[in-house]
Amino acid sequence: MKPEILQICPLSPRVEAALADAYVVHRYWQAPDRAALLAACGAAVCAVATDGHYGVSPDAMAALPGLAMVASYGVGYDGIDIAACKARGIRVSNTPGVLNDAVAELAIGLMHALVRRIPQADAFVRAGKWRDDTYPLTAELTGAHVGILGLGRIGKEIARRLQASKMRVSYHGRHAQPYEPYVHYPDLVAMARDVDWLVAIAPATASTRGIVSREVLAALGPQGSFVNLGRGTLVDEPAMVELLVTGQLGGAALDVFADEPHVPEALLALPNVVLSPHQGSATEKTRAAMGDLVVQNLAAFFADAPLLTPVV
Ligand code: NAP
Ligand code: 8YV
Repeated sequence: MKPEILQICPLSPRVEAALADAYVVHRYWQAPDRAALLAACGAAVCAVATDGHYGVSPDAMAALPGLAMVASYGVGYDGIDIAACKARGIRVSNTPGVLNDAVAELAIGLMHALVRRIPQADAFVRAGKWRDDTYPLTAELTGAHVGILGLGRIGKEIARRLQASKMRVSYHGRHAQPYEPYVHYPDLVAMARDVDWLVAIAPATASTRGIVSREVLAALGPQGSFVNLGRGTLVDEPAMVELLVTGQLGGAALDVFADEPHVPEALLALPNVVLSPHQGSATEKTRAAMGDLVVQNLAAFFADAPLLTPVV
């Protein structure tokens, strides 16, 4: 008999096919009455497949008394109550490492898009304006100073690419990393004051909530740009919007938001902002690798083998 699992959200067709092959899959997000689905299958489900955004709700956790494994499609696991999982002895896996390059590429792409006004230049050509007008001059990345908030797996890949762009790289984190060739700032406000760009790629935790505060953004200032690929919760979003609207913050390139998929209305009209629909890891190659890890972690769990990429 196949084990029963609960799939919380849509995953790639490749992952869904592999899961359907190995398990009886209950599709939570498609259920017309989710409470009824949990009541019907909750006692039999011992594993969940989800992603970093959807996680597992407290209601679902409570309705799955036999839950022993949560396999998440994503490196960030802020949607999962890790303390509750630990308390119940539930294993959790994520997908670290395989998405570093894709996320770093998008970070660099967003910075280029913002500094060279690429979306606006594209619109200028499409609108036929080039025939009668010259596109305004822009700034460039070369020679600028970037501060990375979160010099982890992805942050290091971003840093390498920024160095190749002839930029100076510094970072803020709780720990100095003496073997990395970048200057460590123990104080984020001090780093924001010194840099031209602030790139946030730290996880959403209690200690990072609102870490990019009004004070940090004001220190970055009218000539500074903020790039966020970490999580929307890292930044005081209302303050960021206000500072962008009033010109007290120079620009922003944003892949993540506080209340996805909702984006603050005021951002939509701003020319000094580039918006991206949380697509850091969204390439065919990377999503396939992430999906493989979800499938392999579940298989390891059911085989009583060590998880490939355990969180707990
Ligand atoms: P990682 O290797 O664990 O690195 C996280 C970094 O954040 C570490 O260098 C850590 O340094 C720093 N950090 C943690 N808490 C901090 C705090 N309170 N203050 C300052 N720095 C702190 O994680 P990763 O694999 O690079 O992923 C990072 C995050 O990127 C994920 O958790 C996720 O939220 C986000 N992400 C987004 C996308 C997307 O599509 N936009 C895709 C993948 C990941 P210290 O320990 O020295 O503080
Ligand atoms: C994914 C992410 O978009 O890995 C993460 O933490 O934010 C992204 O890779 C997400 O987990 C899948 O929805």
